[in-house]
Amino acid sequence: MILAITLSTAMVTLTESICWKEVVKATDVSGIGVVIYQKPTSSLCYEERKGINPPLCIQKSVPTISWYTPLDRCLPPIHIANFDTQHGWPTSWPERLKIWTSNLFETNREYSEERYNEDTRHWEVLVSGIYMHNLAINWSSIRNVIDMNASFGGFAAVLVKEPLWVMNVVPIHGLDSLPVIFNRGLIGIYHDWCESFNTYPRTYDLMHSSFLFGNLKKRCDLLDVVAEMDRIVRPGGWVLIQDTIEMIEKLSSILHSLHWDTSIHYDTFLVGKKGFWRPS
Ligand SMILES: *[C@@H]1O[C@H](CO)[C@@H](O)[C@H](O)[C@H]1NC(C)=O
Ligand SMILES: *[C@@H]1O[C@H](CO)[C@@H](O)[C@H](O)[C@H]1NC(C)=O
Repeated sequence: MILAITLSTAMVTLTESICWKEVVKATDVSGIGVVIYQKPTSSLCYEERKGINPPLCIQKSVPTISWYTPLDRCLPPIHIANFDTQHGWPTSWPERLKIWTSNLFETNREYSEERYNEDTRHWEVLVSGIYMHNLAINWSSIRNVIDMNASFGGFAAVLVKEPLWVMNVVPIHGLDSLPVIFNRGLIGIYHDWCESFNTYPRTYDLMHSSFLFGNLKKRCDLLDVVAEMDRIVRPGGWVLIQDTIEMIEKLSSILHSLHWDTSIHYDTFLVGKKGFWRPS
């Protein structure tokens, strides 16, 4: 009991110091308590604290530090809606899915609005024109999709009306487009496909890849990557790969050796369907 009180006092001090508002406090019949806190929507409370501890963070010039960065004991300032376009609240869903809200990257030409819009149009045409009807994939059996080289997330954005979700993977050696994916309201993660992928859910129904393997094969063995894909896809699930014809043929023969059914479409797309075979 004393411990509980001590913890709770420390918790109150902490939550007050970071301006979290207690909105619900309740205990159920067995004595298990629940407290729900709400984070403030402006920096006003931060500035009005008596001791400025923890302090406000000094904004770093690089907005997207992703890993191997120690935790900072500071509070990032909260910017008020429409205060400026760089830090304002995002446009609401689903409008934000297809508009270019990010000007975090205006110095990098690879992130231009023009390229983003082109990418969106490209995926609209490809998915509705070819993926949905001409590749013999049974889309009604697909719920979990993983896009191995998601770029701006255009593939996921086009699929948003389908009853499925897409995990967007941004390869760490390519363009860092994960902030764009998050700005659209989609989910994503960084990954190096020469390493194993941490899977949750345990399996995916469809793995999609667009021109990923050319770069990859300079750093690791394709066979290892395909074995990892075989692990990630559920039995009866699919891969859909767009690549050069040389790469498609190589991948197709590896998938065959794993007893997958494969077909090649328009010399550009490889569709593989995993069966129930396992090496004995
Ligand atoms: C497609 O998948 C659905 C759901 O699993 C299944 O009911 C249907 O029979 C499948 N269609 C074909 C043509 O295999
Ligand atoms: C991902 O795809 C793009 C084309 O959309 C390609 O230029 C790029 O090399 C690929 N990234 C990696 C890491 O292979």
